[in-house]
Amino acid sequence: MAGELSPIDKAKFVAAKRAAQYVEDGMRVGLGSGSTAAWLVRFLGESVRNDGLRIKGVPTSTRIAELAREVGLDIVSLDEAKWLDITIDGADEFDCDLNLIKGGGGSLLHEKIVAMASDQMIVIADIGKEVESLGNFPLPIEVIPFGWQTTQALVEETLISIDVLGRQSTLRMNGHRPFITDEGNHILDLHLSRIGNPRQLAMVINQMPGVVENGLFVDICDAVVIGFSDGRVEIRDINAGTVETDRLDFAETDNLFSDLS
Ligand code: A5P
Repeated sequence: MAGELSPIDKAKFVAAKRAAQYVEDGMRVGLGSGSTAAWLVRFLGESVRNDGLRIKGVPTSTRIAELAREVGLDIVSLDEAKWLDITIDGADEFDCDLNLIKGGGGSLLHEKIVAMASDQMIVIADIGKEVESLGNFPLPIEVIPFGWQTTQALVEETLISIDVLGRQSTLRMNGHRPFITDEGNHILDLHLSRIGNPRQLAMVINQMPGVVENGLFVDICDAVVIGFSDGRVEIRDINAGTVETDRLDFAETDNLFSDLS
């Protein structure tokens, strides 16, 4: 069945499979959102069913919460868990300092809150997510619906004095209607092409009224598990300064793929 996966999905699959090894019995685990994080949730579900792994999961989106329940994970709210041992999540881009752009799926607000409430944050990604400078992927920012066009104009004007290449922004749509986040907000995607100073941009954007949060994760990620389509994985740990390599097979041991519906 794994043979039917696209090369990118194979890379996501092995990254998630390797990252599942970080999760130990009794841990409180932040569950990221997106297709790579969905693989992780399936692997964790398999360990719960087959090996008796006992963990409490805090999902970062309604979609990943649904999947987590389906595969048998014990789900609690962040307020119940209070503090997490680890969060494992995908990313849209990462650079050599492990700064990230996240929010391609629109869950950046919950993802950032959960990641910040964790002892460590591990990113799982295919090698295509690595960039020299962040910004080719449009930077999502979550804005409240009230006056969103005014917020958009303010953001674009402010970008004039920031080290970015572009400053167009678009309202994210879901068909003919604006995309609505889990908190009932809108998403503006900023088409910046290149972000010279992610830390400065993140701070400036968050100071604007109407902006709830931005998708730049600066100094939050501790390690990235990078997957390749041939089964290789590379683990870069920014705190330890180490790079480790590994190779995984694509064999599934359970009904991993039947959970895909
Ligand atoms: C969700 O809002 C995002 O932050 C995801 O983590 C990101 O878009 C990566 O998604 P994939 O794992 O589907 O590529």
